[in-house]
Amino acid sequence: TYVVTDNCIRCKYMDCVEVCPVDCFYEGDNMLVIHPDECIDCGVCEPECPAEAIKPDTEPGLDKWLKINTEYAEKWPNITIKREGPADGKEHDGEEGKFEKYFS
Ligand code: SF4
Ligand code: F3S
Repeated sequence: TYVVTDNCIRCKYMDCVEVCPVDCFYEGDNMLVIHPDECIDCGVCEPECPAEAIKPDTEPGLDKWLKINTEYAEKWPNITIKREGPADGKEHDGEEGKFEKYFS
């Protein structure tokens, strides 16, 4: 599966939802996650994310993010249509420690 990671938080560009063939993105207040059981590993979302927040879970060190994607994909609503992201999204692009500061 692919997973959404830290840099999505508060950037939330939402380009990813437009390209997913199986509509497996789920939306929280500050970020999106991918449902690992629904993702078919096509990889098309990865280059679409301007924040480079989407990664294959085969990359090392992503256990925490696989857990977060798994847990919140069950709790948050499905999102299939891109909307405007937060107005200050670009200001948070690349910021360190976003999970600790903002995740909710
Ligand atoms: Fe959707 Fe493909 Fe991305 Fe998985 S890898 S979330 S199926 S676009
Ligand atoms: Fe987040 Fe990137 Fe999608 S910032 S909402 S994973 S396009």
